[in-house]
Amino acid sequence: MDKVPNHEQGKLPATLDQCRRCDLWEHATQAVPGVGSSRARIMLVGEQPGDQEDLQGLPFVGPAGALLDKALSEAGVNRDSIYLTNAVKHFKWELRGKRRLHKTPAQKEIAACHLWLEEELARVQPDVVVALGGTALKSILQDGGATMKSFMDAPFRQEGRWVVVVYHPSFALRARDEASRRQAYQVIVDGLRQALRLLDKVR
Ligand code: URA
Repeated sequence: MDKVPNHEQGKLPATLDQCRRCDLWEHATQAVPGVGSSRARIMLVGEQPGDQEDLQGLPFVGPAGALLDKALSEAGVNRDSIYLTNAVKHFKWELRGKRRLHKTPAQKEIAACHLWLEEELARVQPDVVVALGGTALKSILQDGGATMKSFMDAPFRQEGRWVVVVYHPSFALRARDEASRRQAYQVIVDGLRQALRLLDKVR
């Protein structure tokens, strides 16, 4: 990737791969765009690419993706029918030993990347958006202070579409005990089922 001078940062980039609106691109292999049909009625928004996603250039292809696939299948949602993306398009990580460990994106990085999510929302025009975790919610609401707790009880409307908020699959993988992991996973499955039901309420 070409290095873009600092004064160019913050300008509107021509393509996602040329984006220098924050510094995350510098240590990422590549930007990871969303995937799916531009006619998808459901859009899932995750946090940011992980190690595998960064290497392969595709969202949700690592362990969190495997759990998400299981939840989608249990909820009866076909992965090919949805649009899948992340709030932040570059992998933010720190080295621990030989492993690149995920680091939660800062609000300024979420805000810098928000225009790419806006572009996807405008292009796909989903009827239902599922926020997978707090980073997705902050980007969707453009509110760094938004907390999942206040939005998980019921879906809400935003700009003509429904928004459903569930836990991030990584949370369901890493929760401290088996019961918490199972409960978090069930919240994801239930949210996906709810997204399907909401489709009937829009058209
Ligand atoms: N976690 C995310 O939020 N997105 C991915 O694409 C992978 C892991």
